[in-house]
Parts: sequence; structure tokens; C-alpha cells
Amino acid sequence: MRVTSSEFIISNTDVSKCPNERIPEYAFIGRSNVGKSSLINTICDRKNLAKTSGRPGKTQLINHFKINKSWYLVDLPGYGYARTSKTSKKAFQKLITTYFEKRKQLVSAFVLIDIRHDPQPIDLEFMEWLGTHYIPFAIVFTKADKEKPKAIERKTQTYIQKMLDHAWEEAPPYFITSSLHRTGGDELLAYINKLNEEFTNQEHLPSFDV
Ligand code: GTP
Ligand code: MG
Repeated sequence: MRVTSSEFIISNTDVSKCPNERIPEYAFIGRSNVGKSSLINTICDRKNLAKTSGRPGKTQLINHFKINKSWYLVDLPGYGYARTSKTSKKAFQKLITTYFEKRKQLVSAFVLIDIRHDPQPIDLEFMEWLGTHYIPFAIVFTKADKEKPKAIERKTQTYIQKMLDHAWEEAPPYFITSSLHRTGGDELLAYINKLNEEFTNQEHLPSFDV
């Protein structure tokens, strides 16, 4: 799939005011500064569709972007930003958890992980939370340009093994990306395309009670 159109639709602090269409939706989530907004720009081949910053805490709202006029990409605030006050940390946490609890259109979350870091409790706990809420997710390793290919291989394998050792019976799908080198976006889009097709096929199922 190629992205031929991408448009900003709306920013929200209130999940109930997010777009109300029944079209598939995918959300980018992860620690502040991991590269969520940058990756949205990369896969849409746009410079400033989503606002990015070298300083963590840039994205503070739920941002809906409509892609190819048929599905949504959602840019969320990051978690784990140490310098915010306790009150605003709580507010962001509430915004994020309410989004995931309420968005029926969400087909999959993408949990972004900085490839350079060892598995962090905050990410593992967040994925566990998604699991207990039956929210499908895939992992997206970011900033792959910062590591050599051998290290990328070793780090991703270690990460997935840690998840399997921890609590997971199955490894989630995962992707390796760099917004700097503009790599990994095609694989991500192919995966979204496959899920979009599954979503559409489900929509066409006859509705009868069994
Ligand atoms: P918040 O909105 O604060 O949660 O951050 P975010 O996850 O949206 O991160 P953002 O996309 O704003 O990027 C944070 C910083 O990381 C910026 O300085 C980006 O230029 C940089 N960055 C993002 N992706 C990459 C990448 O693939 N490689 C490198 N080297 N830098 C990246
Ligand atoms: Mg952001």
C-alpha cells in the first residue's frame, strides 16, 4: 500500500469527541520522544503532518490523521516523561487509557520502542495492560539508524525473548524502523493493509445470531 493522501482531521482531549466513523484505526503509543510523530510523518511521506520535537512531551492531545480517505492513524501523547508534574502525568495516563478502553474502531496499537534501550518496565507493563484489555498490538522498534545491523538483530531477539519469558505465550508482530533513514515504513503499511482488508471482510459478514 502507498499513502496517496494524508490529512489532519482533529485534536482532542476528550475521547468521546474523536471521529465517529466506522473505519479502521491504528494508534502509535510509547514513551515520550521515542519517535511516534516522526514515524507518522515518515510513513505518510510528509515533513510536518504530525508535530515533532527534540524535547519530550511534544504531543499532548489525541490527533487523528485520515489516510487514503479510508483509515485513521492516531498520534498519542507519550508516557513516562519524567519532567511533567504528577498531576499532568495522571491526566495523560487517564487520556491514554480512556482512549484504548473506548475506541471500538481501534484495530491495533503500535507500541514504539527505542531500539537502543534494554527492555524497560514501563513499556512491558503497558503492553501487559493492553493484553489484559484484549487490545491487539504490534511492536515498532524505532531509531534503527543508531545501531549496527548485528546489534539490531541481537536487541530485537532479546526483547522478544524477554516478553516470552515474562508473560506472553506468543511474540507480537514487530517492525524495525528509522525515520532518519526512512526505513521500515513499507513493512508497516503492508501489515496495516492486511488488517484493513480483514476489517472490511468482517464488515461484510452477514449479520445473524448464532
Ligand atoms: P512525544 O510527542 O514527546 O511523546 O514524542 P514522539 O514519540 O512523538 O517523538 P518525536 O517524533 O517528536 O521525535 C523525538 C525526537 O527523536 C526528535 O528529535 C526526532 O527527530 C528524533 N527521532 C525520531 N525518529 C527518529 C529516528 O528514526 N532516528 C533518529 N536518529 N532520530 C529520530
Ligand atoms: Mg509526538
